[in-house]
Amino acid sequence: MPTSAPPVRLAVLVSGSGTNLAALLEAIDRDPAFGAEVVVVGADREDAGGLRRAEDRGIPTLARPLASGDDRGAWEARLRRDIEAHDVGVVVLAGFMRILTATFLDAWPQRVVNTHPSLLPAFRGAHAVEEALAHGVKVTGCTVHLVDEEVDHGPIIAQEPVRVADDDSAASLHERIKDVEHRLLPASVAALCQGLLEVDGRHVRWRTPAPPSRQEHA
Ligand code: GAR
Repeated sequence: MPTSAPPVRLAVLVSGSGTNLAALLEAIDRDPAFGAEVVVVGADREDAGGLRRAEDRGIPTLARPLASGDDRGAWEARLRRDIEAHDVGVVVLAGFMRILTATFLDAWPQRVVNTHPSLLPAFRGAHAVEEALAHGVKVTGCTVHLVDEEVDHGPIIAQEPVRVADDDSAASLHERIKDVEHRLLPASVAALCQGLLEVDGRHVRWRTPAPPSRQEHA
């Protein structure tokens, strides 16, 4: 009888409300073949809504605030140790607004995934939605990618466009981008955990099934 691999143990890092964390948890609940479980949720701020979502579900949490003047390297090393203590195989950045360097990333080579609210390489950084609006682009979107040492730069797992409306505010546009992220991030994490992604330099190929639909979101 074939034995199925144990689920990959995920850490999810958040800074904000955690709607992407919620979408990931729901996708895992829905799909018995997802191949992963969230074993710890971390944040760089005590008041991150994502921590409350995790607590509500009985998932262990850790808050590791970083104050100005703190030693960044020491903070990253501690975060890494605290996550390693949960025997984690993949780390998901779901709205985590801190830059992570090799001090952290070396523990999970090609196993740290980020979701970003633009079509990279356009509009890297913490204000992607506002900058896309200010630039007057007609289409933006979201990108799920593997994290490397450059900000919002690593190999792209999935992308999907979202149209910008003339009357969009940053909030309304971000909501539509999040709707897409809520589908694309879980699908990407599942593919990674199921061994369906081949990484060749900057190129990520989906073995099967194909990445989720690429319809546009008006
Ligand atoms: C998401 O849109 C995510 O792409 C973005 O923060 C939001 C978190 O929303 N991340 C970045 O901008 C990282 N550069 P959530 O807390 O509701 O999941």
